[in-house]
Amino acid sequence: MTKQAFDPFAFRQALGSFATGVTIITTRTEEGEPLGLTVNSFNSVSLNPPMVLWSLAETYKGYDAFKKASHWAVHVLAADQEDLSNRFAGKIDDKFAGLTLEEGINGNPLLTGCAARFECRTAFQYEGGDHLIFVGEVESFEQCDSAPLVFHGGRYAHATPRQSGHEPRHPYLAGSFDENFLGYLLGRSHYRFYNQIRPHLEEARLSDEEFYLLSTLTLKQTMTAVELDATMSGILNNSSASAIQSLISRGLARPEHLDTEDGSAPILAYQLTPDGRRLALRLISAGKVVESQVNERLGYSDATILKSLLVRLLDAIDPQASTLWENPPPE
Ligand SMILES: Cc1cc2nc3c(=O)[nH]c(=O)nc-3n(C[C@H](O)[C@H](O)[C@H](O)COP(=O)(O)O)c2cc1C
Repeated sequence: MTKQAFDPFAFRQALGSFATGVTIITTRTEEGEPLGLTVNSFNSVSLNPPMVLWSLAETYKGYDAFKKASHWAVHVLAADQEDLSNRFAGKIDDKFAGLTLEEGINGNPLLTGCAARFECRTAFQYEGGDHLIFVGEVESFEQCDSAPLVFHGGRYAHATPRQSGHEPRHPYLAGSFDENFLGYLLGRSHYRFYNQIRPHLEEARLSDEEFYLLSTLTLKQTMTAVELDATMSGILNNSSASAIQSLISRGLARPEHLDTEDGSAPILAYQLTPDGRRLALRLISAGKVVESQVNERLGYSDATILKSLLVRLLDAIDPQASTLWENPPPE
């Protein structure tokens, strides 16, 4: 760790290494207008009496109103409330427009769907540089079981419990992979997941390769043979030719010949037939049932974190993957 000469930007960055939750603090002005802002300087102070604190920048436009307010409410945001956090951190006229509000102590506007809420009376105010520190006595609070939104290094983040006491096991063969080897974790999860869909593939008389092709063809209206080969390379053993011929002979896909702008030979492309689309949707919904069972076992919050990490992994090792998706035409 290197000691830094004082630089405000570096100071801000260093403060960002302290991971916090995210809150929205609301109050009402003397004229009855609702006020609120996103705050991560919130912290607990005392259990008895119950007290919390947060600090408000002097530059905030509702500074005087907060200074005069006898009461305010702290909303600890849940992991799915990033949009709400951005709304209350932004410079917009009516931050409360369209939101469902409840009424708290002293008529305070209360937001819903949060991980916890604390309704407080201002107990002390202290000047702290360019901020005013509010210490409040908690008069009422409630909590629900949602995962929290986290802020770290200037970005929103997820919090997930660590699996304590789990040491990765080592194999019999010294030097081989251990239980934490990414390839092992991904590979075994992949096969376990797909084994639960496989009975549906057998019922539809589809090989794994044909299923991969069928589901890949749902990503776009039409896919050229070159695109399909590139997409399937490394997934299918050979080129996609034999699997696509089998889908065509069963009436699940059809070839198309796309005209080129420069008048050269038409480009070979494929698309699903209505029967192919129906079968793909049926199999993919069987896959979604398996996913919902996995989500239930992991818990919604950890399942969301896992997926966000897998998106990053895919982006890192297969940047082309995201280019496969085509938006459907507007209805
Ligand atoms: C994650 C996050 C944490 C913040 N924490 C604080 C804080 O602790 N104190 C503060 O005064 N402003 C904080 N802000 C900035 C205010 O939310 C922002 O300046 C305010 O909403 C601007 O509102 P206004 O346009 O109505 O003045 C934070 C912003 C974000 C995104």
